[in-house]
Amino acid sequence: MRTLISNIQQLLQTESTNKARKQGLEMQQLPMLENAYVLVENDSILDYGKMGDLKEQQVDKNIDASGAFVLPTWCDSHTHLVFAATREGEFIDKIQGCSYEEIARKGGGILNSARKLQDTPEEVLLASAYERLQDVRSYGTGAIEIKSGYGLTLAAELKMLRVIRQLKTMTKIPIKASFLGAHALPLAYKNNRAGYIDLIINKMLPQIAEEGLADYIDVFCEKVAFSVKETEQLMEAGARYGLKPKIHTNQFNCMGGIQASVAHQAVSVDHLEVINDAEIDCLLQSDTMATLLPSAPFFINDHYPQARKMIDAGLGVALATDYNPGSTPSGNMPFVLSLACIKMKMLPEEALNAATINGAYAMELSDTLGSISLGKKANLIITKPMQSIAYMPYAFGTNWVEKVMIAGEV
Ligand code: NIG
Ligand code: FE
Repeated sequence: MRTLISNIQQLLQTESTNKARKQGLEMQQLPMLENAYVLVENDSILDYGKMGDLKEQQVDKNIDASGAFVLPTWCDSHTHLVFAATREGEFIDKIQGCSYEEIARKGGGILNSARKLQDTPEEVLLASAYERLQDVRSYGTGAIEIKSGYGLTLAAELKMLRVIRQLKTMTKIPIKASFLGAHALPLAYKNNRAGYIDLIINKMLPQIAEEGLADYIDVFCEKVAFSVKETEQLMEAGARYGLKPKIHTNQFNCMGGIQASVAHQAVSVDHLEVINDAEIDCLLQSDTMATLLPSAPFFINDHYPQARKMIDAGLGVALATDYNPGSTPSGNMPFVLSLACIKMKMLPEEALNAATINGAYAMELSDTLGSISLGKKANLIITKPMQSIAYMPYAFGTNWVEKVMIAGEV
């Protein structure tokens, strides 16, 4: 099956060097071709170039992209897409002055989601997660990471991860699964933190590994959740099963979570609403991606990560949604791009790099996704006609995604 996308106004992110990620000043570079075509064979990019160089040939399908931009689909490297119920009640509490951390301390928040998930059958979870996956695909997401962490018992964590495994078979969108047993301390372990860590390490991890249910281990390293020491213990345990860390840290406090994650070769550290100079330096010396989730501070009215400072220091950053029922009830990547530019002063080119190639890097998928390169997966966004790439983050809330191609299929 051959599909030709022709007359593309601009084909974006045509990366011939196969860079795994972009950092610092490179983030401003978005290679592109004007008046271009992409030729897709089955699920991959067979060829691309300028219309003038297009050789006449037989194709099965022709898509005329006059006036449109074509770019790689979003790589959303941080989501909690599997959940049982939304949490509008807490939304009202927040409007009335309660903070996200206060709600968590009162047994709301993650524990609220866990209670509901424990009582929800696997097939019900699967159906709602699949619907969300279709929804985020319509915004242009073409690769996604999904976490457990609303189970918090052996049975319920396994149930979540099995749902993610089933999702992997139901879609051509590449999915990575992260085991986030250490998302919150369950009430049953209120006075026995060590007991819960022991449950994760000695009961949950072995079974998850045996069933091959996770690609990564995640920990919510924060004052309201797990300490740096506990995070280290969990990363070490994960490593024994070949699970690399992707760690929630620095959402509210700088406590050493970044340094510990880097020391354990974390693929990414995520949130980073707060960060100090030593932590930026530490990341600069590492292969760990700094993943920013600006729709979380948008929704809980917190301050945004200092993206400008990080990029100007030479770091690469990735952008992801954090789609979850508590701090970010949205999986809309175009909105994340708008927040990145409007609230974090990222340039449109930087936001596009952060949401494509750097997001792919944060899921270890940059050899197959994240740029328009020969042989990479044909996961592409075709936009509505527009004047410039700045329109994408500028026109916040506007649906400018016209078509989404996943593995060669629109
Ligand atoms: O990434 N911060 C920890 N976990 C999620 C929120 C989870 C929730 O509130 O349900 C996050 O923001
Ligand atoms: Fe998260």
